Amino acid sequence: MQRLVFFNQYRKILNRILWALAFLILLLIATSYWLIELVNPFEFLIVQLGRASIICFLLCYAISPVARLMARLCIILRYQFGKRVADWSFLYYQRRMLGLNSFYFAFCHMLVYLYFEIDLSVEEFYLEIQERTFIAIGSLAIFIGLVLAISSHNSIRRKLKRNWKKLHKLTHLLGALIIVHVVLVAKNLEFEEYAYLITISCLAFERTYHILIAGSGSNKLLFKGRRKRQKYRK
Ligand code: HEM
Repeated sequence: MQRLVFFNQYRKILNRILWALAFLILLLIATSYWLIELVNPFEFLIVQLGRASIICFLLCYAISPVARLMARLCIILRYQFGKRVADWSFLYYQRRMLGLNSFYFAFCHMLVYLYFEIDLSVEEFYLEIQERTFIAIGSLAIFIGLVLAISSHNSIRRKLKRNWKKLHKLTHLLGALIIVHVVLVAKNLEFEEYAYLITISCLAFERTYHILIAGSGSNKLLFKGRRKRQKYRK
């Protein structure tokens, strides 16, 4: 568990590595498009970018539940370190980067649709929103993602103060919209869609459970470090 201290020390380096990884994935998708003769280049681009976006979102959404779970495990196993969620601050540090990457991938995903499918036509887009529910839902998701991405900037975060937390509750709505979008696109649910659905349901369940019991005072040890973590994040 002392390895956690190491991770917390090098959380910024870990952050850069994850940024580089996301950039590499984008590069890989783009080069595959240019270099490989694809049967359906539009479908390839839109599906891969959509997948990258949803995976980044799920990783970001999983951080708090995973940190809480690990802290609980450390309490059960009576470890010296790792018993407080603050001990897992290197995980919390990656949240913003994952959320932003999810938004960037989703934005490229939307650009591919606008460019290849409707030739950047505003009227066509307006019609599509009315006719295809999954396009309307995806667009609403992108809009919420944009609001969250802009407000994640430190200066805006400071200005919003407590309202920032309230605003970022929109993440739950965003998760629901993304899942509905993917399910509507898929028509027949397969392993991938089930995997997204089950993951997001488990995470949402843990979060709801946490909200319901956090106020009961039964988790004092687990949340002892919360104040410290909030201070540290500033
Ligand atoms: C946060 C926002 C979004 C996420 C995470 C997302 C994710 C995805 C994913 C994972 C797929 C692949 C589904 C599958 O085949 O299994 C997909 C498909 C698709 N998305 Fe999105 N999407 C988002 C927003 C949008 C927006 C704003 C648009 C357009 C305005 C859009 C248009 C499409 C289209 C047209 C497809 C179907 C591609 C096909 O024909 O196979 N999406 N999306």
